[in-house]
Amino acid sequence: MTNRVVLGLQWGDEGKGKIVDLLSRDADIIARCQGGANAGHTVKINSQQFILHLIPSGILHPGKICLIGNGVVLDLFQLFHEMRELQEKGIDTTGRLFVSGRAHLVMPYHKVVEAAQESARGKEALNTSKRGIGPAYHDKVARYGIQFAEIFDDNLLREKIRASLQEKQSVLAALPEDQRPTVDMTFDAVRAKRDEARLLLCDVSKYLDDAVAQNKRILFEGAQGTLLDVDFGTYPFVTSSNTTIGGVLTGLGIGPKHLDRITGVVKAYQTRVGNGPFPTELHDQLGKDIREWGHEYGATTGRPRRTGWIDLVLLKYAVRLNGVDDIALMKMDVMDKLKEIKVCVGYKLDGQKLDTPPQLGSEFARVEPIYQTLPGWKKPVHEAKKYGDLCPNAKAYLKFIEDFVGAKISILSTGAERDETIVLG
Ligand code: IMO
Ligand code: MG
Repeated sequence: MTNRVVLGLQWGDEGKGKIVDLLSRDADIIARCQGGANAGHTVKINSQQFILHLIPSGILHPGKICLIGNGVVLDLFQLFHEMRELQEKGIDTTGRLFVSGRAHLVMPYHKVVEAAQESARGKEALNTSKRGIGPAYHDKVARYGIQFAEIFDDNLLREKIRASLQEKQSVLAALPEDQRPTVDMTFDAVRAKRDEARLLLCDVSKYLDDAVAQNKRILFEGAQGTLLDVDFGTYPFVTSSNTTIGGVLTGLGIGPKHLDRITGVVKAYQTRVGNGPFPTELHDQLGKDIREWGHEYGATTGRPRRTGWIDLVLLKYAVRLNGVDDIALMKMDVMDKLKEIKVCVGYKLDGQKLDTPPQLGSEFARVEPIYQTLPGWKKPVHEAKKYGDLCPNAKAYLKFIEDFVGAKISILSTGAERDETIVLG
């Protein structure tokens, strides 16, 4: 029995959807532990594309159980929208999708507050996914949050909405009256979803404990990436949850001994959507080419992603933080055409050489990358069906990454389709 964790090791959008889809075959249960509808996990099956924001990507496999843990912030309206979309594409979620009663809700007013906060930040805006994530986690920590299980009690729900809106009064008062959310409006909207929601309610932590006792195999699906972690990411340009390994434990209520293998997902280059420092960013034509070759446009917001060379300093940091066992390297095919590939192997800051990112965000914003140049392979990697089919330069590139970061590459993705994948171990 192997319970495997899949985590993003960059700034999100690494290809976690494809890897979760692949590994779901060997799992009974797929569980999301943090984040919310800010995630956009894309899976391509026989040219049909699915983009999942809240529901674990494992749902695409008939019969698998999917869980949304307490660490997720749940937008009920988005959840039901996604369930309907899946239904229309022939995927039935009935009886196999469950949500922790402890998960906190993203309410319509969280999006209103976020829009006001982003606009107040002006040039310093974070450029978030606008899904209400920050304000929902704020309410959770500030103890104004509403938990999923609380929506079934009318009096409690109304009172909690009232208290939460009261707390936000100073922000909301600045809005035109017709844009100000009211207690009644919010209560009615949530209440309308209640009957449907009741079928999803679950004690996820207990469910997982029982599953472990029955030797069921669990796959943990991380969202976002290590560099967006609220503690270890490029603060304040981060999301509001722990996207690193600890988030799996606190976001589901499971002990560390049940996590058997930690697989990190990494792209062969670096992308970032939203604002914040990005030492290896390419501002030239090559950066634009990589964006087009890799179709680097946000799955959640459609925003063009910033692109750059792979940053092995950050990757090594991510491997360390998460205790990564092995790596899935994605989108290697995007680099097919390049004569040379640069990889960042160190930073320079104020005349000093660094081999790990500085703790201070303002210092990280000033580091200069030190590159090593590797020869390209100039051959479509998707033609390779096994490791032995790869040309020497492609193998050397993989070996360089493995040696530098201290983790083996176990999966290689050479295209978007399910079968464009080489499993190495
Ligand atoms: P997946 O799971 C890429 C980024 C946003 C913004 C910052 C904060 O698809 O990899 P938030 O809405 O979370 O408060 O925004 O985090 N961000 C992501 N970037 N992929 C994601 O998820 C992301 N989720 C949040 O762009 O910079
Ligand atoms: Mg994304």
